[in-house]
Amino acid sequence: MVPTPDSALRELVARFDPTIPVERASTPPSAWYTDPAVFELERRAVLGRAWQPVARLAELAGPGAYQSGCIVGEPWLLLRGDDDALRAFSNTCRHKGREVLQGAGTAEALVCGYHAWTYDLRGRLRSAPRMAGIQGFDRTALSLPTLPVEAWGPWAWINASTDAAPLRPRVAALDGLLTAREWERLRFHSRTSWTLACNWKVYVDNYLDGGYHVPHMHPSLDAQIDMSTYRTELHGEFSVQTVASAAAGPSARTQVDPGERIGPGAIYAWIYPNVMLNRYGPCLDSNHVIPLGPERCRVDYEFYFVDDGQGSEAARRFVESSIEQAVITQREDESICESVQVGLRSRHYDTGRYAPRVEHGEHHFHRLLATDLRRAVGLPLPDPAPT
Ligand code: FES
Ligand SMILES: [Fe+2]
Repeated sequence: MVPTPDSALRELVARFDPTIPVERASTPPSAWYTDPAVFELERRAVLGRAWQPVARLAELAGPGAYQSGCIVGEPWLLLRGDDDALRAFSNTCRHKGREVLQGAGTAEALVCGYHAWTYDLRGRLRSAPRMAGIQGFDRTALSLPTLPVEAWGPWAWINASTDAAPLRPRVAALDGLLTAREWERLRFHSRTSWTLACNWKVYVDNYLDGGYHVPHMHPSLDAQIDMSTYRTELHGEFSVQTVASAAAGPSARTQVDPGERIGPGAIYAWIYPNVMLNRYGPCLDSNHVIPLGPERCRVDYEFYFVDDGQGSEAARRFVESSIEQAVITQREDESICESVQVGLRSRHYDTGRYAPRVEHGEHHFHRLLATDLRRAVGLPLPDPAPT
């Protein structure tokens, strides 16, 4: 594909004006969901600056425990130091760039598997074999670059940008909401992933449509919640959708008891740009949407329960049926998102409209995104800019 020149990219970004209110706004042009140049820009200006929950803290429990991975093109290494501090590094050896460690485990030192350059647990280069004859080699300047890291909820979050503003102030209000729902009592059960043939934003848009699609696409979920109570609240860099449980009791459209599964109501919290926390009844599931390319993404799910099903047969059955329900909903969303992507590729579709009282969460997302993209291409920012 011929690269989009900078001027064309700037024009494309300018086509969504974040100052236009939702009642009059059109959605971003479909090229935002298909164009490799937009994807690259997002990688740099949005995802490369966003806090990402890359590992569970429980997996980083003892000195030297490490996890590694790659997110939106940035290899990372997370490890627990011998001083108990959590550290994150860019996982690129200072020699030829190989990932220093791969996978997960426990290490006393970080030994690159390629030529055995060795770093200590603080990322300082300690030895580099067979370097006799080299000139101008300052080992102290060859530490692994550190990345910002924070613990929040059950996860370690990292940011690929070294000048990122801290995570906690951004999510403080959400913290209160989730703590009130005792999220510290939740125990990890399992994780799974789905790869989807759609742009990552299609998945996020679908999540943020204020329940608009629920009656049409999710018959089982629709039977568990009372759609008349569905609300969306916007905050700086997150939004929260809430809904009350439908009346407890059997329904022809769902196998589960809504009163038990949804409990006092569901909280669907979204943190800009690509993290969702679904808290309902005795359950939490997290969705982390990982962009893989302009028209491909992966959604990582983790399931948490107050009772993880180890203790009793009834709890085990509840966990199983609850995960089954989440999988049914996910499959329905997957078919929607992939079909939307087909439509976005059509020459006959460019932009759409928002249902103002329902899809304002989606509009909020697009305003935050547009602000980051405008900043990156040097366009004027809305005043005041969404924070
Ligand atoms: S690339 Fe790591 S030691 Fe050579
Ligand atoms: Fe859905």
